[in-house]
Formats: sequence, C-alpha cells, structure tokens
Amino acid sequence: LRVVVIGGGQNCEHEVSLASAAAVKRALSHAGYEVVGLTLDEAGTWRDEELRPIGLAGAVQVIGTCAVVVPMLHGPHGEDGTLAALCDLAQVPYVGSGVGAGAVGMDKWITKLVAQAVGIPVASGRLLTRSTAASYVWTHPVVVKPVAAGSSHGVSLVRDRAGLSAALDAAFALDERVLVEELITGREIDVAVLGRPDGSRMVAPLIEILLSEAIFDHETKYDGSARFRLPAVVDPVAQKALESAALAMYDALGCSGVARVDFFLTVDGPVLNEVNTAPGFTEQSQAPKMFAAGGTAYPELLDLLVRDALA
Ligand code: DAL
Ligand code: MG
Repeated sequence: LRVVVIGGGQNCEHEVSLASAAAVKRALSHAGYEVVGLTLDEAGTWRDEELRPIGLAGAVQVIGTCAVVVPMLHGPHGEDGTLAALCDLAQVPYVGSGVGAGAVGMDKWITKLVAQAVGIPVASGRLLTRSTAASYVWTHPVVVKPVAAGSSHGVSLVRDRAGLSAALDAAFALDERVLVEELITGREIDVAVLGRPDGSRMVAPLIEILLSEAIFDHETKYDGSARFRLPAVVDPVAQKALESAALAMYDALGCSGVARVDFFLTVDGPVLNEVNTAPGFTEQSQAPKMFAAGGTAYPELLDLLVRDALA
C-alpha cells in the first residue's frame, strides 16, 4: 500500500515535525508500506522526497497517487485543519483528525470555551489582541502564550510585572491573539486517546512529566532532560477523572486517530491544559510511548492508524 508521510511545516515546530515524519516513514517502510515523503518547508514551499520544490499542485499530485495520507505537520498550516482540508478536497483518506477538530484543537482559546461548555475545568484566562493588550494589568503570576502555537514556543511564565512586556512580545511574535492564564499548581499529566472507526476509544496508560521548573518549556521538551513516569501513579479517582475528561474533549472536538490531551492534576482534580490533535510522533514522543506501554508497539500503532483511515 502506498502512503505519503507529510512533515516539516511553515511554523516554529518545523524541526519537531520533521523528526516525527522521519520516524513514521522509517516504521511504515519496515512494516512493508510503500512510503513517499512530502515536506512543507519553513517558507511554505512544498518539496518532494529529494527536497526539490514541486509547489502545491505537485504535492496534490503526489497525494493523489497514494491510498492514505499520514500528516505529521505540527502547528499552524498543518495541525490546524488546513492539511485535512486539502486531503478532503483531494478526496484522499488521511490519518488523524479532520478540519474541525484540528482547527479547534490548535486554538487554545476556543478549546478552553469548549472545555468549559462540557464541564471540564480550565485555567481562567484572558484573550488579548494587540489592541487590547495595553488594558491588561498584571497582578499575580500568569502564563502568557500564543493562542495557536505548539511545543511551548512563545510561552512564558510571568512572575512579576517587569516580565510582562517581553512575554507579550514573544507571544505576539507568533500569533495575533495571546492568552494570559492563571498559573496552575499541579502535576502535569497527559492522556493519549485513540479513536477507532467503530466508535470505540482506547486510552493509553497515563504519563506524568516530572518537572523541576514551573512550566514544561521548549528546552526541557526537546533537550533530552525531561523525565517522565509511565504509567503515571495516580489514585483511581483521579485516574478516572483524567480519562473521562480526555474522552469528553476528544469527543467534543470530534477528534480522530490519536490525540494527546494534557492536564494539570490539582488537589481539586484535573484542569485541562490543551488538546494536541497531531501530537509529537517519534517513537520516543509521549503518545507513542504511552500506547507502547499499553501493549500497542509503535509500528503496530501506525499500521492501525493507516488501516483505520481506510475503513
Ligand atoms: N506540539 C507537539 C508536537 C506535541 O504536542 O507533541
Ligand atoms: Mg501542544
């Protein structure tokens, strides 16, 4: 079966996405698939396997020769539903979430509104634009983040008034809309959900990110220093609350394939951080490790996702 794995992307998660795509291509090739690669470079130019520029029309042509698209584009212009839309219009099945789930999941503000609507606690937050930012007055520690970005790019913890302006600049550099959120004190626990075409959902063993700093920043995510506990050790009540909240978000957004739903586990229960509809997908990334811990090894998980896309 011929599949196309798409990596890169026109945003700050480009490198992370290339790593996910490379690992997925390797595993699918080993599993016997005929694998072709497409890369969206940082300037937004589509490139073929040999990284020659082929343009959007060329990319659509390659996609049209494949039975399934395996999108590994994290962040805006990929994870946000745009690539799903392209596949929908080209009428080629793809792995993972569709347009709506991708678009909502990429938008941390709308995700928060959806969570509130289905009764899942979130950090209270405020949406700022360049024109309303001046009216925001810092009073206590907050996390400042772009509404639509990933891998903690542009995210800062602001512990004092003096740090606010640099934090806003860093976030506005990546998005027109910025979120200022209450700092939540809790354990950082991620839940990976796999939805199957028959409507069943698999929740992988939970993972805990053991942090020495207050937030899981970009450096800690990718410099190899992050420490995890898998499976996370949580009491049965918290475990159930985390799993049901993750499933409720998965269903509210209408996700498909694998989504990783990230929480803070506080003394009052889970607080949703965000939903990743295209989570990091190297063999060492959280979601694949979580499924592996639950007995679904990486090649098996990918094979399942490709077959489900065809179902
Ligand atoms: N945005 C990164 C890739 C993740 O959530 O894993
Ligand atoms: Mg994310």
